[in-house]
Amino acid sequence: MTSFWSIWVIVLTLACLFIIFGLLVWNLKNYAGVEEGESCGHEFDGIEELNNPLPKWWTYMFFATFAWSVYYLAAYPGLGNWEGVFKWTSSNQGITSLEESKKATEDALANGQRVQLDQEFVDADKRFGPIFEGYASQDIEMLVKDDKALEIGQRLYAQNCSQCHGSDARGGHGFPDLTDKDWLYGGTPDKIKETLLYGRVAAMPPWGAALGEQGVKEMTAHVLSLSGRTVNQKDAKAGEAKFAMCAACHGVDGKGSVAHNLPFGAPNLTDNIWLYGGSQRAVEETLNNGRAGVMPAWKDILGEDKVHLLTAYVYSLSQDK
Ligand code: HEC
Ligand code: HEC
Repeated sequence: MTSFWSIWVIVLTLACLFIIFGLLVWNLKNYAGVEEGESCGHEFDGIEELNNPLPKWWTYMFFATFAWSVYYLAAYPGLGNWEGVFKWTSSNQGITSLEESKKATEDALANGQRVQLDQEFVDADKRFGPIFEGYASQDIEMLVKDDKALEIGQRLYAQNCSQCHGSDARGGHGFPDLTDKDWLYGGTPDKIKETLLYGRVAAMPPWGAALGEQGVKEMTAHVLSLSGRTVNQKDAKAGEAKFAMCAACHGVDGKGSVAHNLPFGAPNLTDNIWLYGGSQRAVEETLNNGRAGVMPAWKDILGEDKVHLLTAYVYSLSQDK
């Protein structure tokens, strides 16, 4: 804090205390001109105002809290830059910028100084690390049969993934269902692990400008017809004629990237499973504006060993039991 703000804080704090104290003392005086407990002389509808002082217990308590505030300010100062009698500070006062703060944190970590939360992570890694390591050396196909491993995987899932994919992993608008056999990037253990480690960024370009309003309507009809929906045949035919521009990612038959061994994550359009909704409006919106779902990368957040267990858990969800 600069000395200006330090003085500002000190003056405001002390002035505030002073005023409160003055108010209290002032209220203890008898200004009514009549004895305590006597009537002040007015009466409203039979209700009389008596000259009653503040209760004694209340006044004593007020003085006590006041005394406490004086002690507290001296011990743990809220008084600007003054360190107080115990030399206590709420933060590293020398640090005035974000860069300095980050640097101080890095230095502290390099010296093995940690805040409680970091220390708990380190301790947990020490304790549970070997367990994860043990699982990491096992094949996913084996882990899928290991109830204990799946239980741990499920907990990791609940902590890290459920906020997006849902606690039952059935997904939601824009978040894929992980329990079905419909995959954007592939459902083999290798593909799932790749998804988890490095994340995925989908890029469905917007087509509103290229197709125009009528074009979007026709393409929507064609897309919906792919999954057997009843549509305007003329529109659908017109859409089909232009589907070549979609085939690079969705495949000529619209069965999606995975079916054609492509890396784009373009969904299968023929299965009536929708990431962004299968109503005419939803598909039109997808085509007009494009979509860009992002699956975060977990390699640096959870580490490979935990991702391995999570892969087993996710893989198990879509396997027939
Ligand atoms: C911030 C939200 C978010 C979180 C958290 C998240 N995901 Fe995802 N995940 C997504 C989105 C969005 C996609 C779809 C990406 C796309 O549209 O291509 C996705 C895709 C996936 C896929 C690919 C599905 C397929 O069909 O190929 C898997 C597997 C997956 N997530 C598993 C997980 C697991 C396991 C976790 C926890 C470690 C997790 N996700 C955490 C948002 C999230
Ligand atoms: C560059 C590759 C690419 C091209 C070209 C492309 N798409 Fe897509 N499309 C994607 C991806 C990737 C997604 C998934 C977006 C996401 O997960 O956020 C997607 C999603 C969709 C969806 C949403 C499906 C659902 O389940 O909600 C529809 C519909 C769709 N595309 C139709 C088309 C049509 C029609 C065309 C041609 C006009 C087309 N796409 C061209 C990559 C592409």
